Amino acid sequence: MATPHNEAAPGDYAPITLLPGDPLRAQYIAEHFLDDVRQVNGVRNCLGFTGSYQGHPISVQGTGMGIPSMSIYVTELATVYGVTTMLRVGSCGGVDPRVNLRDILLAQGSSTDSNVVANTFQPGIHYAPLADFELLNTAYTKAQELGLHVRVGDIFAADRFYNDEIDMRKLADYGVLGTEMESAGFYLLGAKYHFRALSILTVSDLLLREGSTTSKERETGFNDMIHLALETAIA
Ligand code: ADE
Repeated sequence: MATPHNEAAPGDYAPITLLPGDPLRAQYIAEHFLDDVRQVNGVRNCLGFTGSYQGHPISVQGTGMGIPSMSIYVTELATVYGVTTMLRVGSCGGVDPRVNLRDILLAQGSSTDSNVVANTFQPGIHYAPLADFELLNTAYTKAQELGLHVRVGDIFAADRFYNDEIDMRKLADYGVLGTEMESAGFYLLGAKYHFRALSILTVSDLLLREGSTTSKERETGFNDMIHLALETAIA
């Protein structure tokens, strides 16, 4: 075993890797979007696959939910497996009232209540985790070409899914578009290990107003996001 969490051998991952939280989404992406796929990781059922998209080697690895789980897989991809471009493809809750269900959000930066960012620096430093600008710019441009409506801005990475304490209205007032549980830690690791990081998210629920999607609508929205991520990755 190459790491406690990953049975792949060095070289099994492509330099570009997509990162859904849900391992079954990793399998779905591999089966529906990639050619010549092989499974490279199955430890703890946190599935990883390598294949190709339009001739370019691409991997996809589930990360689990939250910064602690994601950090394990991402750190090992960067330090053991030589992955240099990582695109998180996940879902998020809409916070900004202008955000609608199934919108695609590009996380330009990520605020957080997680201590992982603060604990990385000396007291008083409030580091701002940011996306790789080249990836962000490419994703935004590709979205226009594909006719996909995207919004770009701040995503709040919450430590808890169930959370009465966070004032989401205030975050919305300060420009936060949506909330999930990984991006701030993901961008921090990108800065630490010098890989290119971008989170692309589809809005699965709304925090400040009512709304719901059918499973078919969620699947279509998810497919649009994966298409955008793959076109960005190979650009
Ligand atoms: N992921 C998707 N929806 C979410 C929400 N409402 N809060 C945190 N993470 C999410």
